[in-house]
Amino acid sequence: MMNINRRQLLIGLSAAALPQPILAAESSVILRPTRVGLSVNGRMIEMLGFNNSVPGPEIRLPQNDTLSARLENTLEEGTMIHWHGIRLPNTMDGVNVLTQDAVIPGGSFDYRFAVPDAGTFWYHSHYLSLDQVSRGMFGPLIVEERNPPDVDQDITIQLLDILTDAEGNFDRAFHPAHYTTEGRLGDVMTAFSSSSQTRVGERLRLRLINPSVDRVFKIALQGLSGVVVALDGMPLAEPQLLSELVLAPGQRVDVIGDVEADVHVLEQSASKPLLLTKISPSGSRDERQTAFAPLPPNRLPQPGRITQSVDLVMQGGAGGKPHSGFGSWALNDVSGLPRQPIISAGRGETVLIRLRNDTAFPHGIHLHGHHFWETDESQAPTVLRDTTLVEAGESREILCVLDNPGAWLIHCHMLSHQEDGMATWLLVA
Ligand code: C2O
Ligand code: CU
Repeated sequence: MMNINRRQLLIGLSAAALPQPILAAESSVILRPTRVGLSVNGRMIEMLGFNNSVPGPEIRLPQNDTLSARLENTLEEGTMIHWHGIRLPNTMDGVNVLTQDAVIPGGSFDYRFAVPDAGTFWYHSHYLSLDQVSRGMFGPLIVEERNPPDVDQDITIQLLDILTDAEGNFDRAFHPAHYTTEGRLGDVMTAFSSSSQTRVGERLRLRLINPSVDRVFKIALQGLSGVVVALDGMPLAEPQLLSELVLAPGQRVDVIGDVEADVHVLEQSASKPLLLTKISPSGSRDERQTAFAPLPPNRLPQPGRITQSVDLVMQGGAGGKPHSGFGSWALNDVSGLPRQPIISAGRGETVLIRLRNDTAFPHGIHLHGHHFWETDESQAPTVLRDTTLVEAGESREILCVLDNPGAWLIHCHMLSHQEDGMATWLLVA
């Protein structure tokens, strides 16, 4: 294990200010995992980020450009990167066993793929991911519209909880209870905002991302009047009035709104709301008279006739019925990847998946390489997502147009659950 010396901690001191976005179009990006001291509420917490920063650098590029990113593994263990929500070629998806081998210490891997959809995405380690992601190995991946909406600022806000021990240090201990309940919930909550300054009357685009390993955030935005314009990177056909925002691990929400006062980002699942970050106005500008418009849609394949219906049953955890998987959690009675995929589809098939949560806890189910439609009671598609939150005891049907060839992971994005069995895969020929 590396030693943390004073110099590394000093590098960490400046890590509280987010680095400038890397414009991926200009050159290729290099991502190196590094130890970072993160200052939260006056305490220095030793974490693991990319390029001396937690969160890692924001990568930005225009829609349809090609992202070239070299991962250089400076760790003493393996790693790899997954580009969450991007519809990319299977070999670039960064999933151990299914799409690539772990990048060994001292090794590197070149990721290169086009980004077909504009929106808010993110990247994160997908190896020993409960440990590596909880320690900070993630960052935003922003794909810009060719004609972006008219706003004064485009701000990324990442919501994070961190588990610390009695001394206030990052807690890496194994806590058996985390694997059978809601997971590894942190005791420190914060948010990283790429801007802290605004003016009354400014129109802001806020891109909220939840890279936390297990926590579902329930967010209230105060001081801003506006609409939700996208979920998991995909524009809503009709923007929705701003109300409580629920973000399961992995999920994103884009908001466009006009500043009326101090913009407060509040987490409100506890008994009293907790201020995670704020964007403070100084001065003002004339408010825009234009209404909030929908973002231009991304071009995704539309659902056709359903050719297969498959049940995906979430099982296990504390209070759950027994199942035959080896871990605490299982999908369809198997913990971890089964030898055969749960779905084998021809390219372009529309598959209905019935997600059934037979456990006492919520799960955020994520499909790689595709977005899927949530549906209403009559099986009509409603919104596109790449991660859907299924509450304890709830069932939900999703429509997947499986048009991206390869072996794709489906798993609970509560990474404690994933680690202890809640993962499976499907195959698109
Ligand atoms: Cu965001 Cu399989 O991960
Ligand atoms: Cu779960």
